[in-house]
Amino acid sequence: MIWIMPPAFAPLYALVLASVALAAPMILLNDRGSSTANSSAFAAASSINVAAISAAANASTKNEVDSYYTSQAKDHTSKIYGDWSNLPHVSAFHFMADMDIDCDGVYWNCPGNSGDGQPLTSFGALDSRVVPWYVLPEKFADDKNITGNALGAIICDGKMVYAIFGDTNGATPQVIGEGSLELGRACFPNDNISGDNGHGPADVTYIVFGKEVPTGVGNHTIDIAALKTLGDQQVQLLVQDLKLD
Ligand SMILES: *[C@@H]1O[C@H](CO)[C@@H](O)[C@H](O)[C@H]1NC(C)=O
Ligand SMILES: *[C@@H]1O[C@H](CO)[C@@H](O)[C@H](O)[C@H]1NC(C)=O
Ligand SMILES: *[C@@H]1O[C@H](CO)[C@@H](O)[C@H](O)[C@H]1NC(C)=O
Ligand SMILES: *[C@@H]1O[C@H](CO)[C@@H](O)[C@H](O)[C@H]1NC(C)=O
Ligand SMILES: *[C@@H]1O[C@H](CO)[C@@H](O)[C@H](O)[C@H]1NC(C)=O
Repeated sequence: MIWIMPPAFAPLYALVLASVALAAPMILLNDRGSSTANSSAFAAASSINVAAISAAANASTKNEVDSYYTSQAKDHTSKIYGDWSNLPHVSAFHFMADMDIDCDGVYWNCPGNSGDGQPLTSFGALDSRVVPWYVLPEKFADDKNITGNALGAIICDGKMVYAIFGDTNGATPQVIGEGSLELGRACFPNDNISGDNGHGPADVTYIVFGKEVPTGVGNHTIDIAALKTLGDQQVQLLVQDLKLD
């Protein structure tokens, strides 16, 4: 959407902008439309052994519960596993896939979205520039009753960051492996991630804690500190249940 402002209305416009700025939480965006927030604000605590969890995920493939293509080209299938769905202290599904970029929500017109963006996300109208979120196929989320905005721990490029289940994929066929701009940029800060430039290799591990929702999820934004608190808590319980410590 482009706003064309007649000069006579400039003072009014400034007033409107100022009141919007006061009402909204203060989020600074740089010229690439990405958040200036430090993405380590939603990264796993340094005490968490990410390599051990990654190795455990790679080895925990006995209970396949579903599978989806990672793209419309159908050249790769990602399997979703339920090996960790019934552990003593946590319940999680996990899968490995690529990371396409989803900027639906208030920033639906992001560069690279080539006209197919939607102004709403599945549980609100999240801002892709500031909310780290991952996407699930609609059918999987329905079948397994995954709660909207549920916590995910994403292992990408050797690190782990937290995200919420912010949107669903309802394409035909439904595909898997997708994240918001903010998640993509936190995962791959040097890869010029944008609406049409994600991460191709299917080497990203998504761990979905389907019933755990952080506090402070709004229509456009989330409380990043609350996301990190819940993420560290759930992952530490997973580490304990898997006896990785
Ligand atoms: C981001 O935050 C982490 C931990 O709070 C700190 O170690 C790091 O230096 C920060 N990076 C930048 C670019 O500010
Ligand atoms: C798990 O598998 C992925 C994809 O093959 C790989 O990139 C990653 O290094 C593996 N993790 C470990 C700890 O070996
Ligand atoms: C969420 O944000 C969108 C876009 O700004 C708006 O259309 C919608 O009414 C909002 N919903 C709620 C529940 O505030
Ligand atoms: C789905 O999950 C919600 C809460 O996460 C629960 O209230 C509801 O009963 C569940 N539905 C089914 C069919 O399990
Ligand atoms: C980064 O991506 C944008 C499109 O989103 C493109 O216009 C630009 O040329 C790219 N920059 C580099 C260095 O590849």
